[in-house]
Amino acid sequence: MLELLDRLPPDPILGLMAAYRADDDARKIDLGVGVYRDDQGNTPVMQAVRAAEQTVLERQTTKTYVAPAGNPAFNDAMRRLALGTQGALAASDRVCAVQAPGGCGALRLGAELIRAAKPNATVYVSTPTWANHVPLLSGCGLKLERYPYYDPATGGVAFEVMMCALDTLSPGSVVLVHASCHNPTGADLQAAQWRELLGLMQRRALLPFIDMAYQGLGDGLDEDAEGLRLLCAALPEALIAVSCSKNFGLYRERVGGLIALNQSAAAAGAALTQLTRIARGLYSMPPDHGAAIVAEILGSDTLRAAWRSELDGMRARIAHLRAATTGALAEACPDEDFSHIQRQRGMFSYLGISPEAVRRLREQHHVYMTEDSRVNVAGLRLENIPYFAAAVAAAGGAR
Ligand code: LMR
Repeated sequence: MLELLDRLPPDPILGLMAAYRADDDARKIDLGVGVYRDDQGNTPVMQAVRAAEQTVLERQTTKTYVAPAGNPAFNDAMRRLALGTQGALAASDRVCAVQAPGGCGALRLGAELIRAAKPNATVYVSTPTWANHVPLLSGCGLKLERYPYYDPATGGVAFEVMMCALDTLSPGSVVLVHASCHNPTGADLQAAQWRELLGLMQRRALLPFIDMAYQGLGDGLDEDAEGLRLLCAALPEALIAVSCSKNFGLYRERVGGLIALNQSAAAAGAALTQLTRIARGLYSMPPDHGAAIVAEILGSDTLRAAWRSELDGMRARIAHLRAATTGALAEACPDEDFSHIQRQRGMFSYLGISPEAVRRLREQHHVYMTEDSRVNVAGLRLENIPYFAAAVAAAGGAR
């Protein structure tokens, strides 16, 4: 039977990691997978994570199962991190939250919950969106459609076009929205646009499914959640997938969660039973270690402050890299406009170059990015930005 299986091409993002590792050129630059890197090109373990991990290990007395819903302290802390500690939702019994194996696990839990509630629901994702949204959301049988989002001419959101498209959706349609630091474009909605989106969702009775994988890496922890909080404060229902991969640097520990806003406390109770049943059927229980670290950090004033300050440093570094990259590209490619890189937020931007130029960058200059020319800005170092800009010019720039 197994010999019937076709060989599949590598994952568009993860496949680059292997290609980059196999390249032994000293000038190589990895702008592929979205991991934060410091000035030395390393993805360090955050100090607050190290300290919390120590405490977790010292205090741990057993390795017995946690529960399908995961660590309650983690779930509570993540809910407050996402929804804030002020306002009606802070302690609302309409909200339930479960731990998940990473943001990916949370997205799949959300998709499965939608399918359980409405098997024929359609989920609309932005064009473009993170490549893995497609298998994660449609893999459970949900129908997936697209809505326009990015305007390559401005490097911003094609807001009017997006709103026109969303205004045609039937009630109960699910709209996958990126809370901040849009992956792959770095183009985010402005505050006034979130308000307009809210009005449209209310009018058309749409369900937002919000992916927040980069909280704190755009404009700040609260700032990056503003749009999400606006929607959740006014809408009857919403789903939120959160991840601790980037903002806690806990990539390999697989730490995330799904938060569901429901119409009533009774509905929240029912959703929780569904989510734990889904988790049990998929992976039984999430891993403990990373979530215990996050709960420890968010539960301690000292560790939380230390983590926030490290996160602030990461965000400032990305902003600095964006400015330096825009400047270097302006010099190396004087006839082209890369200024959107400085205006955008989070780890990613589209360079806006052709797949052929992307291939030349990889094969001739050892610069790795996905075929759509998404770059992980955090993968650059101040010292290799001039090399990168010269390579983009040599590869043909945006022409
Ligand atoms: C990315 O977009 O590169 C990250 O979210 C990592 C991944 O799993 O794709």
